[in-house]
Amino acid sequence: AAPVRYEAETSPAVCSGTIDSNWAGFTGSGFCNGANSTSGHAQFQVTAAAAGTATLGIRFANGTTTARPADVVVNGATAQTASFEGTGAWSTWVTKTLSVQVVAGTNTIRLNPTTPGGLANVDHLDF
Ligand code: GCU
Repeated sequence: AAPVRYEAETSPAVCSGTIDSNWAGFTGSGFCNGANSTSGHAQFQVTAAAAGTATLGIRFANGTTTARPADVVVNGATAQTASFEGTGAWSTWVTKTLSVQVVAGTNTIRLNPTTPGGLANVDHLDF
């Protein structure tokens, strides 16, 4: 099936920071600018048709030259750490594709930054 898009600014998604719209190119009405600390997370709630391996497409921008790594936490367990490297500009959005294991039905997918810079700006999750 075609992926479903979950916007970072739309409940039940959670953005521990601000919903901003000052950098062009986002989808929906804005993006999550997580606080610049390891507590500045973004969380999505997605629905899986079946248990198994699922593809995540996380669209982000990082206008710095330093990666903004984050743990990808699925239903409370860290699945992997992703880098969220510099994209060249805050208005240059890139989709990072990851694979994780999910359960059938509702899953929470949370990005927990691992460095004090916090998260890259996060636009949406395609699931
Ligand atoms: C700048 C930019 C923000 C970004 C922030 C950061 O302030 O305008 O969109 O989130 O840097 O470093 O995280």
